[in-house]
Amino acid sequence: MNTQKNATLTLDGKTVEFPVHTGTIGPDVVDIRSLYGKTGAFTFDPGFMSTGSCMSAITYIDGDKGELLYRGYPIEQLAEHCDFMEVCQLLLRGELPTAGEKSEFVEIIKNHTMVHEQLSRFYSGFRRDAHPMAVMVGVVGALSAFYHDAMDISDQHHRDISAFRLIAKMPTIVAMAYKYGIGQPFMYPRNDLDYAGNFLHMMFATPCETYKPNPILARALDRILILHADHEQNASTSTVRLAGSSGANPFACISAGIACLWGPAHGGANEACLKMLQEIGDVSRVGEYINRAKDKNDTFKLMGFGHRVYKNFDPRAKLMRETCREVLNELGLTDDPLFKLALALEKIALEDDYFVEKKLYPNVDFYSGIVQHALGIPTQMFTGIFAAARTVGWIAQWNEMISDPEQKIGRPRQLYVGATRRDVIPVDKR
Ligand code: CMC
Repeated sequence: MNTQKNATLTLDGKTVEFPVHTGTIGPDVVDIRSLYGKTGAFTFDPGFMSTGSCMSAITYIDGDKGELLYRGYPIEQLAEHCDFMEVCQLLLRGELPTAGEKSEFVEIIKNHTMVHEQLSRFYSGFRRDAHPMAVMVGVVGALSAFYHDAMDISDQHHRDISAFRLIAKMPTIVAMAYKYGIGQPFMYPRNDLDYAGNFLHMMFATPCETYKPNPILARALDRILILHADHEQNASTSTVRLAGSSGANPFACISAGIACLWGPAHGGANEACLKMLQEIGDVSRVGEYINRAKDKNDTFKLMGFGHRVYKNFDPRAKLMRETCREVLNELGLTDDPLFKLALALEKIALEDDYFVEKKLYPNVDFYSGIVQHALGIPTQMFTGIFAAARTVGWIAQWNEMISDPEQKIGRPRQLYVGATRRDVIPVDKR
């Protein structure tokens, strides 16, 4: 952080100065931590449109350029040359692993994929038709009841063990939520498979026959994991940081992140997008839905379109679009009516003045929903897959926050617009 400039603010005739910090790339930030002390005023920024909530060296996004970097590496290069295990190490440690470091990490993760047998009994407490995200919020939070041996968050070694456990167990927990919902037996992880192949195995294998993951489909899932691994200070990551700022344990914090991710404006968008496609039903009705999305009096939005940060294109969407085509070709689904409908919607929205003017492009969730549907992953599971992918980002961000000596509990203030002080009149006199 470099501080060579000041910003000046005049309030009620009093002029005060604030340091302006410059990062390695990206907008400068005005450090207003002393604002209240100096002026008695707060800043007001609901939705955090202009607020940097922390200093971070993990992920950088340039929304105008459509650029996403993990630890400085462009997402396009990572998606082409690396697998999810390498990306996990990059996000957690700051550097891509050597071949030796990678095999060591893969071994550690493989050795943590099983969940405590007692944890599997938690599932039977849920209704079979429970949303998998409801199950995950509960089960991931409950991990804190199992791992007392590594719960000292001030100890880096304990934090590392928690990170390995979370990254390793999340696919197992997601797959178990799926299997429970459809009434099939849980499948134990297989150590001869890679991370994505094992994930597919735990989702789709049964004890009755041998399952061999299709490498193209496993690679597609791996790419979904890479593209969703981290995304700077988004709503769920900020939730994880805020929960962690009080000293809460990592499993509780990740569970809070999962709850936030569930919302349709965030990770729930891929599920909402598929539901929307099913509701539209036919290419002939695309126009009607485009008009609804443009109608100010209609709350309907085209799910899978638009982004708070990317205002030109979402670089993840470009990559996911490629994967989408590969998967549809591999599975011979290019003529499937739902996929044809998705492609028609994409084309019409990309050419429509309203969407062009407002810079509303398909985001990663538009294509990842289609890919997951093609892989045979049920719609309700989409956000669970996203949660499994984002876990490494959440834990890397949580770890960075805990390691920061200046870290404080997150405690925003407010603009109060309620009643001013008044006296209580006893109930019999009101
Ligand atoms: N369909 C129709 N109109 C839209 C859409 C959409 N999908 N998205 C934004 N708009 C309009 C919005 O009504 C507003 O219009 P106006 O200027 O007339 O008031 C304008 O575009 C700006 O939108 P906004 O809601 O103020 O923008 P935001 O930055 O607050 O919201 C968003 C971003 C992603 C929440 C929003 O675009 C949205 O709800 N999209 C659909 C849900 C979705 O796909 N979410 C996944 C995001 S990517 C995954 C992730 O990173 O979590």
